[in-house]
Amino acid sequence: MTTKQLEDLFTVPILFKDNLAIINDSSSFQNQAQTNDSFSEKWVKLDNESSTEASEDFQKKWVLELYGFKTIDGLKDFLKDKKIIIDAGCGIGYKSAWLAELAPHAIVFGIDYSEAILVAANRYKPISNLYFFRADIANLPFKPSTLDFILCDQVIHHTENPRKTYEHLSSLLSGDGKFACYVYAKKALPRELVDTYFRTATHKFTHEQMWQFSDQLTELGKTLTDLNVKFNCPDIPALGIKGGEYDIQRFIYWNFLKCFYHPQWTKKENDSCNFDWYSPSNAERYSADEYKVWANELNLKIDFFRSEEAGHTSIVSK
Ligand SMILES: C[S@@+](CC[C@H](N)C(=O)[O-])C[C@H]1O[C@@H](n2cnc3c(N)ncnc32)[C@H](O)[C@@H]1O
Repeated sequence: MTTKQLEDLFTVPILFKDNLAIINDSSSFQNQAQTNDSFSEKWVKLDNESSTEASEDFQKKWVLELYGFKTIDGLKDFLKDKKIIIDAGCGIGYKSAWLAELAPHAIVFGIDYSEAILVAANRYKPISNLYFFRADIANLPFKPSTLDFILCDQVIHHTENPRKTYEHLSSLLSGDGKFACYVYAKKALPRELVDTYFRTATHKFTHEQMWQFSDQLTELGKTLTDLNVKFNCPDIPALGIKGGEYDIQRFIYWNFLKCFYHPQWTKKENDSCNFDWYSPSNAERYSADEYKVWANELNLKIDFFRSEEAGHTSIVSK
């Protein structure tokens, strides 16, 4: 893409130094500022201290499954006519790099509001069709109707007003553009109460206290997983607890407390996953109907919808 074509995408001049532009690096909303700070801490620590290959592979498989692409070829085929792509809330950019690799004909922009963007730009400097910028995805400088594919994976619920962010992003879709987005699902009542409590309680935690807490949650997750105990739980509708056979770790995880543990991940990756859940102040959860309403109110076509215990994924178009 020529510099002129690149400039034409934006409403204001954007100054890229190599592959990176800083458009906005601070928020006037207290919760968004805290959320940015929390992700800066998570990603920079993760990048410095651990290999992320296992969790990145896990995440890519998750994208293929949850958005219905099924295989890498399925995703490649989907991307073949998409020229301008954004990875909205890209963290350290491994999904942006993946999209740039699968769609070499396209320009991909990875965007994040935290310091993760610096890690991303540094990591993926050699990829010529990939750019990064630091900005709020609720207020992007693209001209309307310019984007052919928006991936917003596990991000929108961290923005100050997720519904408004959704509306903004969908306004940037080109005529044939597709918008793939994942939001957290509401879970059983005890888990929601604990999660809601931590959205404000963590304001008082230092990063060190938060890592300590995350370490304790990983330890609990591992201990419960190692027990390898399964049992049958009755349906308890008043608490939103679904009956059936559970592994004890999954039972606690889904219904009471996020004590994540994945045996193939490094200690830091497991801790980061728990940190990521309890640290940010902004982390809204939705029922499938609450999420679908957004697309319906904006007259968007829902091309794909899938609900899981952890979240809802959709692909919509104009
Ligand atoms: C759970 S991570 C997901 C990262 C990546 N999409 C992935 O799937 O690995 C959420 C990311 O959203 C970013 N984020 C939160 N609010 C944002 C906003 N308003 N604008 C841009 N990025 C935001 C955070 O900094 C963080 O890197």
